[in-house]
Amino acid sequence: MSEEHTYSVTMEEQEYIYPSYEFVSQANMTDPKIREKMSLDNFPYYYKEFADMLEWDEYWHTMLDTSDAPCWRWFVGGRLNASYNCIDRHLKEHKNKTAIHFVPELEEEDIVHMTYQTLYMRVNEVAAVLRDELGLKKGDRVTLHLPMVPELPITMLACARLGIIHSQVFGGFSGMAAGERAWDSESEVLITMDAYYRSGKLLDHFAKAEEACKKSEEMGQTIKTVCIWQRYKGKNSSPTPMKEGRDIIMNDLVAKHKREIVEPVSMPAEDILFLMYTSGTTGRPKGIQHSTGGYLSYVTAMSHIIQDIKPTDVYWCMADIGWITGHSFIVYGPLSLGASTVIYEGVPTYPDAGRCWRVAEELDVNIYHTSPTAIRMLRKAGYDEPDKYNYKFKHMTTVGEPIEPEVWRWYYEKVGKKKAAIVDTYWQTENGGFLCSTIPGLEPMKPGSAGKTVPGLHAVVYDGEGNEIPPGAGKAGNICMVNPWPGSMQTIWKDRDRYVRTYYERYNKDPKSTDWRDWPYLTGDAAVLAADGYFRILGRIDDLINVAGHRLGTKEVESAALAVEEVAEAAVVPAKDEIKGSIPDLYVSLKPGYEPSEELEKKINNMIREVVGPIATPKGVWICADMPKTRSGKIMRRVLGSISNNEDVGDVTTLANPEIVQDIKEMVDKKLGR
Ligand code: WTA
Repeated sequence: MSEEHTYSVTMEEQEYIYPSYEFVSQANMTDPKIREKMSLDNFPYYYKEFADMLEWDEYWHTMLDTSDAPCWRWFVGGRLNASYNCIDRHLKEHKNKTAIHFVPELEEEDIVHMTYQTLYMRVNEVAAVLRDELGLKKGDRVTLHLPMVPELPITMLACARLGIIHSQVFGGFSGMAAGERAWDSESEVLITMDAYYRSGKLLDHFAKAEEACKKSEEMGQTIKTVCIWQRYKGKNSSPTPMKEGRDIIMNDLVAKHKREIVEPVSMPAEDILFLMYTSGTTGRPKGIQHSTGGYLSYVTAMSHIIQDIKPTDVYWCMADIGWITGHSFIVYGPLSLGASTVIYEGVPTYPDAGRCWRVAEELDVNIYHTSPTAIRMLRKAGYDEPDKYNYKFKHMTTVGEPIEPEVWRWYYEKVGKKKAAIVDTYWQTENGGFLCSTIPGLEPMKPGSAGKTVPGLHAVVYDGEGNEIPPGAGKAGNICMVNPWPGSMQTIWKDRDRYVRTYYERYNKDPKSTDWRDWPYLTGDAAVLAADGYFRILGRIDDLINVAGHRLGTKEVESAALAVEEVAEAAVVPAKDEIKGSIPDLYVSLKPGYEPSEELEKKINNMIREVVGPIATPKGVWICADMPKTRSGKIMRRVLGSISNNEDVGDVTTLANPEIVQDIKEMVDKKLGR
């Protein structure tokens, strides 16, 4: 690990908490020999069970092809369709069962219960539109920029039906962010929505499409068609004018294809299902590429083993489908198992802290899945609120960031009423599904720990020199996966070199090797491995900030700040935050001739919101006379981070300009009243 990253491992290991008898007696995975069966000696053959959870048009002949290592090819020779596996195969037994419960943010609007039959009809109609109206075909990319509405999974599954690669950009991101991703994926079609609700306000979402088209065009990719879903069918809810020849109302197109059926295209297992852009350490977002067969089998198995989903369950994952958690564990995993999945449009605490528990009671949700940020928010807004409602969770998940044992306990005692088993699932966009978690019916929970690696995966923790840190050593290091798995990304879209560099170069001994044993996967996270094999994840080792469970590249935020004319230099550091875990804190210096002012702070703040999105809004914009720098001119982010978090800045005497540190600290302390 570089010297800029030091970890204090002070938190004590917590006591075990055992799952309730009610949970264990009905759990999906109760085989005590599961870990033995899935030991490294049996790799990769145990993944057959995962593949067998799907329906194949043609069965695969080679489980794992490593000839192009580290681009792993799973279930080679197999053919299947993801949309068929998530919808059609359930019709025989479950056509009349709810596939999607859509909960609009406004409580006075009715909840929509969409059966598998209805989902089937709607997906087919949209597939007909994609194929016959937009001329899209297998392998084409389409950028979606949709909020949390049923039209989002419908559009995704319609793409999957035809082998069209969807690239959904988080609805809260700016139009520019969508445009940049459309450019990178070479999308000619953007699918968006006119408006949606957030905190009781109907937001004009379509306004972002113009920005997206402009940005994409500037970068060299023309978006020829913008399709607009209507939040209220037959009504335009966006005041932004449409552009003749480019913009079309999706609902009108769909009306032309009522009840049309489109046969699912039989896809090779190794063809791409979707791209999901995620922040990297350099400015450009990475198009994480996921396969059809490997990905779908992995999320199906994880939904079964770890999420404990059965077709009879009502499952609510409160993430946004615009993140990987939503793709894997709102859409593909639960639907592949034939469960009912809940989609909630808005803010968890709208209109008050009881909203989630009312939804849970109304729909009789029994599996609940959310992030530490949401849990902290709900705990703060309504500590005793869950007591007032009569819902019963059997299982709950936390994902996305480390959870404090105290927050975990509130989740367990108040939200789960001491009955629900909790899994703390650790994983990344790149992984498709979980890396670490306890098996809920077999293993005890430990607050603040993610648990062992999930069955099938094997991990090591390396120190900076590449030596393995043994379990129980009490030292943190880089957590790496020893073996590949079917849900792992295939590569970075159009950038194999960056894929190899980012995830494999660090611990690879022979770049020519086609033996998977030579390619440990670098997660980029620091972790501590306890004597019992449980991992505690500490956070990123690279230049990424985890805001409310979402990865932001510091470089993305910094380049947005640098787009302000007056700004000469910018450095972003994570500031600790009670609710969101961390928030970007921004330090800038100005070009000669400019003076600091509150307007300028606002201007910089606005620029970041506009370019990256409100999620990146900095906690503070600190205009400094100069940045603390090493003699070689590198900005010392560690020092700025200490100032932001009111910690000791340590020894700064080796800096080129040590005196500036005190000036900055005084400015920050004064403004924050410390
Ligand atoms: C962090 C989200 C602690 C980690 C699924 C990882 C976690 C990054 C956990 C990936 C957890 C995710 N405990 N930290 N249970 N889950 N992380 O790609 O730093 O949005 O590398 O995927 O979130 O974020 P991403």
